[in-house]
Amino acid sequence: MSPEGLTRKAACPGSFDPVTLGHLDIIGRAVKLYDEVVVAVLINPAKAGLFSLDERLDLLREVTAAYPNVRVQAFQGLLVEFCLDNGIAVVVKGLRAVSDFDYELQMAQMNLHLAGVETLFMPTNPQYSFLSSSLIKDVAKWGGDVTAHVPDVVARRLRERLHTARSAAGEQAAGPA
Ligand code: PNS
Repeated sequence: MSPEGLTRKAACPGSFDPVTLGHLDIIGRAVKLYDEVVVAVLINPAKAGLFSLDERLDLLREVTAAYPNVRVQAFQGLLVEFCLDNGIAVVVKGLRAVSDFDYELQMAQMNLHLAGVETLFMPTNPQYSFLSSSLIKDVAKWGGDVTAHVPDVVARRLRERLHTARSAAGEQAAGPA
C-alpha cells in the first residue's frame, strides 16, 4: 500500500510462449515490491505461438499459483492502455544483457511518453541471463534438455507438444500408407 493508501500494482508483460524460469524469477521478485503483480500476456493475432493463448495463460496460472498477489491476464493492443485500464503505474521488465537494453529503453521511453507509465528494469539473475522462450523452444525441438530452464510442467508440455509435432512430421514424410 502506498502512503496515500493506494494499492501498488505492477505489470510484468510478455508473450510467455512459454514461461521460463527467467520470467518466473522476475515475477517472484516483483511480488515482493508490489501489492499486486499482473502478468500481462500479449494477444498477438499476427504471430501463432507454439502454445495457444489459453495454454500460456493456464501454464502461467499454474506456475504462479504460490503467489496470492499475482493475477494473470491477457491483453491486446497497447500495453499502456492495459495499464491505465487496470490502474497499473509501473511495468517491470527483466534485463538479461546489454543487448536487451536499447529496445527495452525505447519501449520504456515510449510508454512514459504515451501515458506516463513508468518502467522498472530488473537485472536478470545471472543463472537465467541466456534464457529466452525462443531458445528454449529450439533446444527442445531438437531433443535437448531444457529441464533446468523451465518449470517442470512446461518441460512436460514441451515434450508432449514437440513429440506430437515430430510424429505428425514423420507420418507426412512417410506418405500415405
Ligand atoms: O515477451 P516479449 O514478446 O518480448 O514481450 C514484448 C511486449 C509484449 C512487452 C511488447 O511487445 C508490448 O508491450 N506489446 C504491446 C504493444 C505495445 O504496447 N507496443 C508499444 C510498445 S512501446
